[in-house]
Amino acid sequence: MMPRLSTQLIIAFVLIPTALGQNLLEIYKAMMNDQAARAKTPPINIEFFGESLCPDTTRYFRNHIMPVWTALQASSLVNVTYHPFGLAECRRKDGVVRCTCQHGPAECQLNMLQACVISALEFPQLYLPIVNCMQGKSQFASAVDDCIVNFRPRPDLDENFMTRCAQSQLGAKLMMQHGYRQREIAPELDWVPWILVNGRRSQAAENQLKTIICSFPEPSRYQYCKTSEEFIISK
Ligand SMILES: *[C@@H]1O[C@H](CO)[C@@H](O)[C@H](O)[C@H]1NC(C)=O
Repeated sequence: MMPRLSTQLIIAFVLIPTALGQNLLEIYKAMMNDQAARAKTPPINIEFFGESLCPDTTRYFRNHIMPVWTALQASSLVNVTYHPFGLAECRRKDGVVRCTCQHGPAECQLNMLQACVISALEFPQLYLPIVNCMQGKSQFASAVDDCIVNFRPRPDLDENFMTRCAQSQLGAKLMMQHGYRQREIAPELDWVPWILVNGRRSQAAENQLKTIICSFPEPSRYQYCKTSEEFIISK
């Protein structure tokens, strides 16, 4: 196993020279830690593996992950982690990482862009709307334009640094890290989307995430769980 890339280094690479960006992230981290500490129950951990150009992954983002996350994340009930990798392969040869992806080089480019955004912003609360926006984009340039430049979800996310990250060894290495995580906790993965709920694979969650999440006591008390919209939007 390769040593993990230093988070500090990655943050420095993608956010500098905006010192402001670094400060915002530090403030945000403190807020998140505080929120987690105050939460009565630990969040339900949803760890989600997919591919940027896989239509099933895209549908899963739009119909399952985003509605659940939008409804419940503010109350710290769910913790969604996304890994853009799936049926890809990365190899390191002579110090250079090269990846191949199920849907070809364009998918690797977009996976790497998502991996760069995830690394830069670190918290799902920050990165998920951007990664969701990028998901399924057929053009790298429109992923950058629509999801960073025009969307402008974060003042501290720099499109030039993100592009450089995605098109460099840093992007490849970041994507490879998601591959390591996948190999570690979902070694039997043979399709995507592949979902782990509290560390265990849940095939049921692939079809009805909301039902699974709402079967836990704490979320079930929320108004969101008393509506049945999932069945309307998911099929
Ligand atoms: C969220 O999930 C990630 C990945 O499983 C984990 O590293 C992190 O500690 C979790 N955060 C909380 C607040 O549970």
